[in-house]
Amino acid sequence: MIRTKILGLGSYVPDRIVTNDELTYLDNKHVRQETVQTETNDAWIQQRTGIAERRYVPNDGNTATSDLALQAATKAIADAGLQPGDIDCIILGTLSPDFHFPGTAVILQKKLGIADKNCACFDIRQQCSAFVYGMQMADAFIRTGMYKRILLVGAELHSHSLDFSTRGRDVMVLFGDGAGAMVLGPSETEDAKSGIIYTSAHADGSGAMDLYLKIFEIKKLPYVDYDANDREQNQTMYPHMDGKRVFLNAVRGMVMSTQAALAKTGLTWDDIQWFVPHQANLRINEKVVEVAKIPPAKVLNTIQFYGNTTAATVPLTIDHWRQQGKVKKGDRILSSVFGSGFTWGAAIFTI
Ligand code: COA
Repeated sequence: MIRTKILGLGSYVPDRIVTNDELTYLDNKHVRQETVQTETNDAWIQQRTGIAERRYVPNDGNTATSDLALQAATKAIADAGLQPGDIDCIILGTLSPDFHFPGTAVILQKKLGIADKNCACFDIRQQCSAFVYGMQMADAFIRTGMYKRILLVGAELHSHSLDFSTRGRDVMVLFGDGAGAMVLGPSETEDAKSGIIYTSAHADGSGAMDLYLKIFEIKKLPYVDYDANDREQNQTMYPHMDGKRVFLNAVRGMVMSTQAALAKTGLTWDDIQWFVPHQANLRINEKVVEVAKIPPAKVLNTIQFYGNTTAATVPLTIDHWRQQGKVKKGDRILSSVFGSGFTWGAAIFTI
Protein backbone atom coordinates (compact mmCIF):
# COMPACT_ATOMS: atom_id res chain seq x y z
CA MET A 1 0.00 0.00 0.00
CA ILE A 2 1.32 3.44 -0.92
CA ARG A 3 1.93 5.72 2.07
CA THR A 4 2.66 9.47 2.09
CA LYS A 5 5.89 11.05 3.24
CA ILE A 6 6.84 14.66 3.82
CA LEU A 7 9.80 15.26 1.50
CA GLY A 8 10.52 18.92 2.21
CA LEU A 9 9.55 21.92 4.33
CA GLY A 10 9.98 25.69 3.97
CA SER A 11 8.62 28.95 5.30
CA TYR A 12 8.82 32.68 4.79
CA VAL A 13 7.92 35.83 6.70
CA PRO A 14 8.45 39.40 5.48
CA ASP A 15 11.24 41.45 7.10
CA ARG A 16 9.10 44.21 8.61
CA ILE A 17 8.47 43.58 12.32
CA VAL A 18 5.46 45.42 13.75
CA THR A 19 5.43 45.47 17.56
CA ASN A 20 2.29 45.99 19.60
CA ASP A 21 3.45 49.51 20.46
CA GLU A 22 4.03 50.44 16.81
CA LEU A 23 0.64 48.98 15.84
CA THR A 24 -1.05 51.63 17.95
CA TYR A 25 0.40 54.37 15.76
CA LEU A 26 -0.08 52.85 12.28
CA ASP A 27 -2.56 54.42 9.90
CA ASN A 28 -4.44 52.40 7.32
CA LYS A 29 -1.46 52.67 4.94
CA HIS A 30 0.80 51.14 7.65
CA VAL A 31 2.60 54.47 8.07
CA ARG A 32 3.57 55.39 11.62
CA GLN A 33 1.86 58.60 12.77
CA GLU A 34 2.66 60.86 15.73
CA THR A 35 -0.73 60.33 17.32
CA VAL A 36 -2.52 57.15 18.40
CA GLN A 37 -4.53 55.68 15.50
CA THR A 38 -5.97 52.62 17.29
CA GLU A 39 -6.78 52.53 20.99
CA THR A 40 -4.95 49.39 22.00
CA ASN A 41 -1.81 48.66 23.95
CA ASP A 42 0.94 46.08 24.45
CA ALA A 43 -0.29 44.97 27.89
CA TRP A 44 -3.85 44.22 26.65
CA ILE A 45 -2.62 42.36 23.56
CA GLN A 46 -0.02 40.29 25.44
CA GLN A 47 -2.37 39.44 28.29
CA ARG A 48 -5.25 38.30 26.05
CA THR A 49 -3.32 36.75 23.15
CA GLY A 50 0.38 36.31 23.98
CA ILE A 51 1.29 38.21 20.79
CA ALA A 52 4.24 40.63 21.03
CA GLU A 53 4.84 41.33 17.33
CA ARG A 54 3.93 40.22 13.82
CA ARG A 55 5.35 40.63 10.28
CA TYR A 56 3.90 42.84 7.52
CA VAL A 57 4.76 42.98 3.83
CA PRO A 58 6.16 46.30 2.58
CA ASN A 59 3.12 48.34 1.63
CA ASP A 60 4.43 49.23 -1.84
CA GLY A 61 1.89 47.40 -3.99
CA ASN A 62 4.45 44.86 -5.14
CA THR A 63 3.86 41.90 -2.84
CA ALA A 64 0.91 39.55 -3.13
CA THR A 65 0.00 36.36 -1.28
CA SER A 66 1.41 34.37 -4.21
CA ASP A 67 4.82 36.04 -3.63
CA LEU A 68 4.87 34.90 0.01
CA ALA A 69 3.79 31.44 -1.19
CA LEU A 70 6.57 31.44 -3.80
CA GLN A 71 9.26 32.09 -1.19
CA ALA A 72 8.07 29.28 1.10
CA ALA A 73 7.45 26.88 -1.82
CA THR A 74 10.90 27.46 -3.32
CA LYS A 75 12.51 26.58 0.02
CA ALA A 76 10.35 23.47 0.49
CA ILE A 77 11.11 22.21 -3.03
CA ALA A 78 14.86 22.73 -2.48
CA ASP A 79 14.59 21.05 0.94
CA ALA A 80 13.08 18.02 -0.82
CA GLY A 81 16.03 17.96 -3.24
CA LEU A 82 13.64 18.59 -6.14
CA GLN A 83 13.13 21.12 -8.93
CA PRO A 84 9.86 23.07 -9.43
CA GLY A 85 9.27 21.04 -12.61
CA ASP A 86 8.97 17.86 -10.51
CA ILE A 87 5.76 19.13 -8.88
CA ASP A 88 2.63 17.58 -10.41
CA CYS A 89 0.04 19.11 -8.06
CA ILE A 90 -0.26 22.33 -6.04
CA ILE A 91 -2.72 22.67 -3.16
CA LEU A 92 -2.77 26.23 -1.83
CA GLY A 93 -4.68 27.26 1.32
CA THR A 94 -5.40 30.96 1.82
CA LEU A 95 -8.15 33.33 2.96
CA SER A 96 -6.31 36.24 1.36
CA PRO A 97 -6.05 35.17 -2.30
CA ASP A 98 -4.45 37.50 -4.86
CA PHE A 99 -7.87 37.86 -6.58
CA HIS A 100 -11.37 36.46 -6.26
CA PHE A 101 -10.56 34.36 -9.32
CA PRO A 102 -8.51 32.75 -10.73
CA GLY A 103 -7.20 30.86 -7.73
CA THR A 104 -3.80 31.74 -6.27
CA ALA A 105 -2.39 28.24 -6.95
CA VAL A 106 -2.25 28.91 -10.71
CA ILE A 107 -0.50 32.24 -10.07
CA LEU A 108 2.02 30.43 -7.89
CA GLN A 109 2.46 27.80 -10.62
CA LYS A 110 3.38 30.56 -13.09
CA LYS A 111 5.74 32.25 -10.61
CA LEU A 112 7.45 28.88 -10.04
CA GLY A 113 8.10 28.81 -13.80
CA ILE A 114 6.09 25.64 -14.36
CA ALA A 115 2.99 27.03 -16.09
CA ASP A 116 3.75 24.84 -19.10
CA LYS A 117 4.04 21.67 -17.00
CA ASN A 118 1.19 19.25 -16.42
CA CYS A 119 0.41 20.30 -12.86
CA ALA A 120 -3.02 20.32 -11.21
CA CYS A 121 -3.73 23.45 -9.15
CA PHE A 122 -6.22 23.59 -6.27
CA ASP A 123 -7.13 26.52 -4.02
CA ILE A 124 -8.70 25.50 -0.73
CA ARG A 125 -10.59 27.88 1.55
CA GLN A 126 -10.59 26.39 5.02
CA GLN A 127 -8.87 29.38 6.61
CA CYS A 128 -6.94 28.44 9.77
CA SER A 129 -7.69 24.73 9.23
CA ALA A 130 -6.48 24.74 5.62
CA PHE A 131 -3.12 23.11 6.19
CA VAL A 132 -4.54 20.03 7.89
CA TYR A 133 -7.36 19.85 5.32
CA GLY A 134 -4.69 20.10 2.62
CA MET A 135 -2.60 17.35 4.21
CA GLN A 136 -5.62 15.09 4.12
CA MET A 137 -6.22 15.87 0.43
CA ALA A 138 -2.55 15.38 -0.45
CA ASP A 139 -2.42 12.10 1.47
CA ALA A 140 -5.48 10.79 -0.38
CA PHE A 141 -4.09 11.83 -3.77
CA ILE A 142 -0.74 10.17 -3.10
CA ARG A 143 -2.18 6.96 -1.67
CA THR A 144 -4.32 6.50 -4.78
CA GLY A 145 -1.35 7.18 -7.06
CA MET A 146 -3.08 10.24 -8.56
CA TYR A 147 -0.07 12.55 -8.01
CA LYS A 148 3.52 11.93 -6.96
CA ARG A 149 4.97 15.27 -5.92
CA ILE A 150 2.44 17.55 -4.22
CA LEU A 151 3.31 21.08 -3.14
CA LEU A 152 1.08 22.06 -0.21
CA VAL A 153 1.24 25.76 0.68
CA GLY A 154 -0.43 27.95 3.30
CA ALA A 155 0.07 31.66 2.61
CA GLU A 156 -1.57 34.78 3.99
CA LEU A 157 -1.33 38.50 3.42
CA HIS A 158 -3.55 39.78 6.21
CA SER A 159 -2.13 43.24 6.76
CA HIS A 160 -3.91 44.76 3.73
CA SER A 161 -7.42 43.71 4.80
CA LEU A 162 -7.43 44.68 8.48
CA ASP A 163 -9.36 47.60 9.97
CA PHE A 164 -6.68 49.94 11.37
CA SER A 165 -9.07 51.82 13.62
CA THR A 166 -10.36 51.29 17.15
CA ARG A 167 -13.48 49.67 15.65
CA GLY A 168 -11.37 46.81 14.22
CA ARG A 169 -8.85 46.42 17.04
CA ASP A 170 -10.15 43.06 18.37
CA VAL A 171 -9.28 41.37 15.05
CA MET A 172 -6.52 43.63 13.75
CA VAL A 173 -4.06 42.92 16.58
CA LEU A 174 -4.19 39.16 16.01
CA PHE A 175 -3.01 38.71 12.43
CA GLY A 176 0.30 38.75 10.57
CA ASP A 177 1.66 37.93 7.10
CA GLY A 178 3.59 34.76 6.27
CA ALA A 179 3.74 31.47 4.40
CA GLY A 180 4.73 27.85 4.90
CA ALA A 181 5.00 24.92 2.52
CA MET A 182 5.58 21.18 2.35
CA VAL A 183 6.34 18.81 -0.49
CA LEU A 184 4.69 15.41 -0.13
CA GLY A 185 5.26 12.21 -2.08
CA PRO A 186 5.00 8.44 -1.86
CA SER A 187 7.11 6.75 0.79
CA GLU A 188 9.41 3.82 0.13
CA THR A 189 8.43 2.32 3.49
CA GLU A 190 5.14 0.74 4.56
CA ASP A 191 5.81 1.64 8.22
CA ALA A 192 2.42 2.84 9.49
CA LYS A 193 4.13 4.95 12.18
CA SER A 194 5.98 7.22 9.77
CA GLY A 195 5.03 9.77 7.11
CA ILE A 196 1.42 10.90 7.32
CA ILE A 197 -0.02 8.63 9.99
CA TYR A 198 -3.42 10.19 10.56
CA THR A 199 -5.58 13.11 9.44
CA SER A 200 -9.06 14.30 10.38
CA ALA A 201 -11.12 17.20 9.05
CA HIS A 202 -14.37 18.53 10.51
CA ALA A 203 -16.77 21.44 10.01
CA ASP A 204 -19.81 23.03 11.63
CA GLY A 205 -21.31 25.65 9.31
CA SER A 206 -23.52 27.03 12.08
CA GLY A 207 -20.41 29.01 13.14
CA ALA A 208 -19.98 30.61 9.69
CA MET A 209 -21.00 34.10 10.82
CA ASP A 210 -18.90 34.03 14.00
CA LEU A 211 -15.73 34.79 12.02
CA TYR A 212 -16.01 36.11 8.48
CA LEU A 213 -14.84 38.64 5.92
CA LYS A 214 -17.46 39.30 3.24
CA ILE A 215 -15.91 41.91 0.94
CA PHE A 216 -18.88 41.27 -1.38
CA GLU A 217 -22.32 39.70 -1.27
CA ILE A 218 -23.24 38.18 -4.61
CA LYS A 219 -26.98 38.24 -3.83
CA LYS A 220 -26.88 42.06 -3.87
CA LEU A 221 -26.65 44.47 -6.79
CA PRO A 222 -24.22 46.20 -6.66
CA TYR A 223 -22.50 43.28 -4.98
CA VAL A 224 -19.68 45.42 -3.50
CA ASP A 225 -20.81 48.05 -1.02
CA TYR A 226 -17.85 50.41 -0.78
CA ASP A 227 -17.44 54.14 -0.34
CA ALA A 228 -13.80 55.20 -0.32
CA ASN A 229 -14.75 58.51 1.35
CA ASP A 230 -16.62 56.93 4.23
CA ARG A 231 -14.58 54.28 6.05
CA GLU A 232 -17.22 53.95 8.76
CA GLN A 233 -19.65 52.48 6.22
CA ASN A 234 -17.23 49.93 4.85
CA GLN A 235 -18.01 47.12 7.25
CA THR A 236 -17.99 44.48 4.51
CA MET A 237 -14.34 45.21 3.70
CA TYR A 238 -13.07 44.05 7.10
CA PRO A 239 -13.12 40.83 9.12
CA HIS A 240 -15.73 40.40 11.86
CA MET A 241 -15.46 38.08 14.82
CA ASP A 242 -17.35 36.97 17.90
CA GLY A 243 -14.13 36.48 19.85
CA LYS A 244 -15.62 34.61 22.80
CA ARG A 245 -17.53 32.08 20.66
CA VAL A 246 -14.42 31.54 18.53
CA PHE A 247 -12.30 31.06 21.65
CA LEU A 248 -14.63 28.46 23.23
CA ASN A 249 -15.20 26.53 20.01
CA ALA A 250 -11.47 26.57 19.19
CA VAL A 251 -10.58 25.01 22.55
CA ARG A 252 -13.31 22.40 22.16
CA GLY A 253 -12.47 21.51 18.53
CA MET A 254 -8.72 21.31 19.13
CA VAL A 255 -9.06 19.24 22.31
CA MET A 256 -11.52 16.82 20.71
CA SER A 257 -9.51 16.37 17.52
CA THR A 258 -6.27 15.89 19.50
CA GLN A 259 -7.82 13.25 21.75
CA ALA A 260 -9.42 11.47 18.77
CA ALA A 261 -6.07 11.44 16.91
CA LEU A 262 -4.42 9.61 19.81
CA ALA A 263 -7.35 7.24 20.39
CA LYS A 264 -7.61 6.28 16.70
CA THR A 265 -3.88 5.66 16.21
CA GLY A 266 -3.19 4.10 19.63
CA LEU A 267 -0.27 6.52 20.04
CA THR A 268 0.50 8.27 23.34
CA TRP A 269 2.53 11.39 24.13
CA ASP A 270 5.51 9.04 24.68
CA ASP A 271 5.40 8.33 20.92
CA ILE A 272 5.08 11.99 19.88
CA GLN A 273 7.88 14.56 20.07
CA TRP A 274 5.91 17.77 19.41
CA PHE A 275 2.42 19.24 19.63
CA VAL A 276 2.02 21.99 17.02
CA PRO A 277 -1.35 23.70 17.46
CA HIS A 278 -2.72 26.35 15.11
CA GLN A 279 -1.46 29.74 16.27
CA ALA A 280 -4.64 31.78 16.86
CA ASN A 281 -4.11 32.86 20.44
CA LEU A 282 -1.55 31.66 22.99
CA ARG A 283 -4.32 31.52 25.61
CA ILE A 284 -6.34 29.11 23.42
CA ASN A 285 -3.27 26.88 23.09
CA GLU A 286 -2.58 26.99 26.84
CA LYS A 287 -6.16 25.92 27.54
CA VAL A 288 -5.96 23.08 24.97
CA VAL A 289 -2.72 21.86 26.55
CA GLU A 290 -4.28 21.94 30.01
CA VAL A 291 -7.57 20.23 29.10
CA ALA A 292 -6.07 17.60 26.77
CA LYS A 293 -3.23 16.94 29.27
CA ILE A 294 -0.47 17.54 26.74
CA PRO A 295 3.08 17.61 28.18
CA PRO A 296 3.90 21.37 28.14
CA ALA A 297 7.54 20.72 27.13
CA LYS A 298 6.29 19.19 23.86
CA VAL A 299 4.33 22.27 22.75
CA LEU A 300 5.68 24.50 19.98
CA ASN A 301 4.29 28.02 19.52
CA THR A 302 5.34 30.98 17.36
CA ILE A 303 2.37 33.30 17.79
CA GLN A 304 4.41 35.52 20.12
CA PHE A 305 6.46 36.80 17.17
CA TYR A 306 4.41 36.00 14.03
CA GLY A 307 0.81 36.49 15.23
CA ASN A 308 -1.87 34.42 13.52
CA THR A 309 -0.84 33.65 9.93
CA THR A 310 -3.93 31.46 9.39
CA ALA A 311 -3.22 28.73 6.77
CA ALA A 312 0.54 29.16 7.28
CA THR A 313 0.84 28.65 11.04
CA VAL A 314 1.52 24.89 11.12
CA PRO A 315 4.41 24.68 8.58
CA LEU A 316 5.75 28.06 9.70
CA THR A 317 5.91 26.94 13.33
CA ILE A 318 7.53 23.59 12.50
CA ASP A 319 10.08 25.23 10.21
CA HIS A 320 10.84 27.99 12.72
CA TRP A 321 11.67 25.46 15.45
CA ARG A 322 13.54 23.25 12.98
CA GLN A 323 15.77 26.24 12.17
CA GLN A 324 16.30 26.74 15.91
CA GLY A 325 17.47 23.09 16.13
CA LYS A 326 14.53 21.85 18.21
CA VAL A 327 12.59 19.89 15.57
CA LYS A 328 14.69 17.16 13.97
CA LYS A 329 14.23 14.91 10.96
CA GLY A 330 12.06 11.92 11.85
CA ASP A 331 10.30 13.66 14.77
CA ARG A 332 6.64 12.72 15.14
CA ILE A 333 4.27 15.70 15.35
CA LEU A 334 0.63 16.01 16.34
CA SER A 335 -0.99 19.12 14.94
CA SER A 336 -4.50 20.34 15.67
CA VAL A 337 -6.18 23.32 14.05
CA PHE A 338 -9.36 25.39 14.24
CA GLY A 339 -10.69 28.19 12.11
CA SER A 340 -13.47 30.12 10.49
CA GLY A 341 -16.35 28.02 9.22
CA PHE A 342 -16.12 26.63 11.85
CA THR A 343 -13.59 24.09 10.60
CA TRP A 344 -11.14 22.02 12.60
CA GLY A 345 -9.02 18.89 12.43
CA ALA A 346 -5.81 17.14 13.41
CA ALA A 347 -2.90 15.33 11.83
CA ILE A 348 -0.09 13.07 13.05
CA PHE A 349 2.99 12.85 10.85
CA THR A 350 6.76 12.52 10.89
CA ILE A 351 8.77 15.35 9.47
N1 COA B 1 -7.02 46.48 22.63
C1 COA B 1 -7.59 46.97 23.74
N2 COA B 1 -8.84 46.68 24.10
C2 COA B 1 -9.55 45.86 23.32
C3 COA B 1 -9.01 45.29 22.15
C4 COA B 1 -7.69 45.63 21.81
N3 COA B 1 -7.08 45.15 20.72
N4 COA B 1 -9.94 44.50 21.59
C5 COA B 1 -11.03 44.55 22.35
N5 COA B 1 -10.79 45.38 23.40
C6 COA B 1 -11.70 45.74 24.49
C7 COA B 1 -13.15 45.58 24.12
O1 COA B 1 -13.62 46.73 23.44
C8 COA B 1 -13.80 45.42 25.48
O2 COA B 1 -13.90 46.68 26.08
P1 COA B 1 -15.17 47.02 27.01
O3 COA B 1 -15.09 46.04 28.16
O4 COA B 1 -14.91 48.45 27.40
O5 COA B 1 -16.37 46.82 26.16
C9 COA B 1 -12.74 44.65 26.27
O6 COA B 1 -11.50 44.84 25.58
C10 COA B 1 -13.03 43.18 26.34
O7 COA B 1 -13.35 42.76 25.04
P2 COA B 1 -13.73 41.28 24.74
O8 COA B 1 -14.03 41.15 23.28
O9 COA B 1 -14.76 40.82 25.74
O10 COA B 1 -12.34 40.56 25.07
P3 COA B 1 -12.01 39.04 25.14
O11 COA B 1 -11.61 38.69 26.51
O12 COA B 1 -13.06 38.18 24.49
O13 COA B 1 -10.71 38.97 24.21
C11 COA B 1 -10.00 38.29 22.05
C12 COA B 1 -10.81 39.30 22.85
C13 COA B 1 -10.17 38.63 20.57
C14 COA B 1 -8.53 38.39 22.43
C15 COA B 1 -10.51 36.86 22.37
O14 COA B 1 -11.91 36.81 22.34
C16 COA B 1 -9.96 35.83 21.42
O15 COA B 1 -8.78 35.66 21.30
N6 COA B 1 -10.82 35.09 20.73
C17 COA B 1 -10.39 34.13 19.75
C18 COA B 1 -9.94 34.86 18.52
C19 COA B 1 -9.25 33.99 17.53
O16 COA B 1 -8.47 33.17 17.91
N7 COA B 1 -9.51 34.22 16.26
C20 COA B 1 -8.91 33.49 15.21
C21 COA B 1 -9.42 32.10 15.21
S1 COA B 1 -8.71 31.12 14.01
